[in-house]
Amino acid sequence: MDDPEQPGGSRVAQLFDTLADDYDQSGVAFFEPIAQGLVDALALEPGERVVDVGCGRGAVTLPAARAVGEHGSVTAVDIAPAMVAHTRRSAEEAGLTQVRTAVVGPDLADLPDASADVVAASLVLFFAPDPAATLRRWMRLLVPGGRAGLATFGASDPTWERVDALFRPYVPAHLLDPRATGEGSPFESDEGMEELCRSCGATGVRTAGTQVSVRFADAAQWRAFSMSTGQRAMWGFVPEDRRGSLYDEAAGILEDARDEAGDIVIVQQVRYTLAVV
Ligand SMILES: C[S@@+](CC[C@H](N)C(=O)[O-])C[C@H]1O[C@@H](n2cnc3c(N)ncnc32)[C@H](O)[C@@H]1O
Repeated sequence: MDDPEQPGGSRVAQLFDTLADDYDQSGVAFFEPIAQGLVDALALEPGERVVDVGCGRGAVTLPAARAVGEHGSVTAVDIAPAMVAHTRRSAEEAGLTQVRTAVVGPDLADLPDASADVVAASLVLFFAPDPAATLRRWMRLLVPGGRAGLATFGASDPTWERVDALFRPYVPAHLLDPRATGEGSPFESDEGMEELCRSCGATGVRTAGTQVSVRFADAAQWRAFSMSTGQRAMWGFVPEDRRGSLYDEAAGILEDARDEAGDIVIVQQVRYTLAVV
């Protein structure tokens, strides 16, 4: 399935290219609050040059562009061309002329070294087959004293865990959700991510965090959400004749998470790893 010349890259690019039209369009606030938290944590200054790696539909790009203003710049790049097209259109519609967009290979070969004040990546690094090699490349984009901010997932809500477990029997081990790659994964802990950054040459490394309450009206909205995110790949592994019963089981689990207002609420812990080079 993977192209051995671009481990993981072509599969991930294809997944997000297919998803792009639906991505983040299910009416569930998820990527935007996580991205806004990253922009806030990076404390961007007017005039700064930002690279948004794995821009998707621009969840980081747009607030970052507003923060750096018209004298700054945001270079929004992604391996999925359809994602880049959405970001470009949204930036144009918002009149954010400081945004540039580009489709890149997973190694960002076309971006010059030491050309950015800030590299931001929200929910991207865990797709890399070799996160240290990928992060080293991102760090090289920074000028001395430049900053990197990486958003990844913190501990899972028990409801998420129970729903994810329904997919586990069908998904090849190496493609399991990156939050569940087990001991030794840098994505398992704050310390793991901090150590990963240090191993890539970063000095001042620290972690900030937030949590996002993800609200679904019903299980059908959860399914629409999951089909509009990377989780669509998980559905693809479930045999068609098992999808209905898996959905019914998930709906039962989600019912346990209704709050007093009647919404299904799942609390997503978010980790921001912040580093200086
Ligand atoms: C979960 S989405 C996050 C998108 C966006 N940052 C957001 O917060 O909504 C991950 C994105 O990263 C892109 N991506 C994955 N690996 C990448 C890499 N090595 N370089 C650039 N983009 C990458 C995918 O194509 C996808 O659009």
